[in-house]
Amino acid sequence: MAIDLTEETITAAVQGTFAGARDARLRELFVSLVQHLHDVARETRLTSEEWFTAVDFLERVGHLSPPTRQEFVLLSDILGLSVLVDQINHARGSATDSTLLGPFYVEGRPRAENGADISGGVTGMPLFFSGGAVDPEGRPVAGAYVDTWHSDGEGFYDVQQADRLNGETAMRALLATDDDGRFWFRSIVPRYYPVPTEGPCGEILRAAGRSPMRPEHIHFWLHAKDHESLVTMLFRGDDPYLEKRDAVFGAKSSLVADFVQHDAGETAPDGTVMSEPFQTVEWTFVLAPDRR
Ligand code: BEZ
Ligand code: FE
Repeated sequence: MAIDLTEETITAAVQGTFAGARDARLRELFVSLVQHLHDVARETRLTSEEWFTAVDFLERVGHLSPPTRQEFVLLSDILGLSVLVDQINHARGSATDSTLLGPFYVEGRPRAENGADISGGVTGMPLFFSGGAVDPEGRPVAGAYVDTWHSDGEGFYDVQQADRLNGETAMRALLATDDDGRFWFRSIVPRYYPVPTEGPCGEILRAAGRSPMRPEHIHFWLHAKDHESLVTMLFRGDDPYLEKRDAVFGAKSSLVADFVQHDAGETAPDGTVMSEPFQTVEWTFVLAPDRR
C-alpha cells in the first residue's frame, strides 16, 4: 500500500476505508459524499482559509440548534436540500403534494376537538379552516390525525415569542378527522415572514443578496392508518411573496388555497354572526395509500 497520497489518489483511498462497512447503504452514502466533497475542493481550488471559515460556520450552526431552533434544518432548507429530498421521496401522483416541514413544528402541541379555537389567545383576524381527508378514489379517511401550525398576523410563531406567551403553545394543535373524514378549527390569519436571519444562515442570505421571505402559509401534517403521512402547507394566492422565490423553495402552485375575505356582520362557518371581518379557507387533502 502506497503511504503517500496525492490530489489524484486521496479520494479513492478514503473511499476504500468504507469497504468494510457492514451497512451497504452507509458505505454507498459515504463513498458518494467523499467523492462530491473532494470534487468541490478540487474544482474550486478551496483555500485553507476558506476551509477554516466553513468549519467555523458549521460549528456556529451547531451551537444554534436547540430543540426549538434548528439552524441545521434551516441550512438544509435555504440550500434547497430539504425540498430536493422531499421531491425524490414523494413523486407527484394523485395525492396532495408534499413540501418541507420547516423548523417550527414542535411535538408538545395540544390536542384540539373539531371546531376549537386554536389561536391560544393570540389576537388577529379570525380564520375558519374547514378541511377533509380522502383517499385517491375520493373516499373519506376517518380518524386521520391532523397536525397544524402557523404564524400570527405579524409572521411570528409561538416559539418565537415564548416570553410573551409564557412558554404556552399557540396557533398549533393536533386534530382528528370525524367519520366523514372532515376536520375544522378556528384560528387567526397568518402572514408572510422572513426565515430567522440572526444566525449563520442569515449571513449566507445577506452575502448572496437573497430574500429571506416565505409567502404566507399554514402547515399541515396528516397521519392516517394505511396511508402515507403527508407533510404539506397551504399558501394564499394573492400573497406578495408567492411570485418572488420562496427563501426555502417550498411554495407550489398546487398548494395555493383561496383565503376568502368576509365582512363584519356575515355568519361564520360555526354559526357565529361576526362583529369583525374574517377569512375562511377550505381544502381537501388526498392521502396516498401506504406502499410499505
Ligand atoms: C416554515 O415554513 O415554518 C419554515 C420553513 C423553512 C425555514 C423557516 C421556516
Ligand atoms: Fe412556516
